[in-house]
Amino acid sequence: MLFPEGVAIDGRTGAVKPETGRYAKRLSELRGLFQDGDALERVVAEKSDPIVYEVVDYRKKESDLCFGTTIMSPGRVGNEYYMTRGHFHLRRECGEAYYTQSGEGVLLLESRTGESRVVEMLPGVCAFIPPEWAHRSINTGADKLVFVWFCATDAGHDYGEILKRGMRKIIIEQDGRRVVADNPNFGR
Ligand SMILES: [Fe+2]
Repeated sequence: MLFPEGVAIDGRTGAVKPETGRYAKRLSELRGLFQDGDALERVVAEKSDPIVYEVVDYRKKESDLCFGTTIMSPGRVGNEYYMTRGHFHLRRECGEAYYTQSGEGVLLLESRTGESRVVEMLPGVCAFIPPEWAHRSINTGADKLVFVWFCATDAGHDYGEILKRGMRKIIIEQDGRRVVADNPNFGR
């Protein structure tokens, strides 16, 4: 039987106590995700294969609900900000919520029918992710971006489609500003 408990979440570091698991994604594991493959290799070499993001979870398989944090490092590959892989949920009826705690970024979403949306990720903003929308978070700030996510335990991740074709929009830095641009390599 499961018992209730309070889980302490540190909005600055993303620490979850108690936590049930975690993983980190280093830049070398994100080859193919960014527009500029040469720039990626340069950053991997210069910064000793930095961690782009970490995910810490509180997940009880006997429960339908789980939550956790994602901690994203600041950084860019060429003019493209650090981002997560992006995914649809395997269980198509499952949505999610991302509650930003610190830092600044954007949540890039794309529906199955090809519509794109951007939702600001700022402290205090809870982003609603409806079912059937792929989602990717992007750290556009100078500090860590930390957010809490809440999801169905068995929602599942379908990374393949986004990895294969990319998303229709990219988030880039242009003249010191954050810009939403069309992805010139979409579908390639
Ligand atoms: Fe998700």
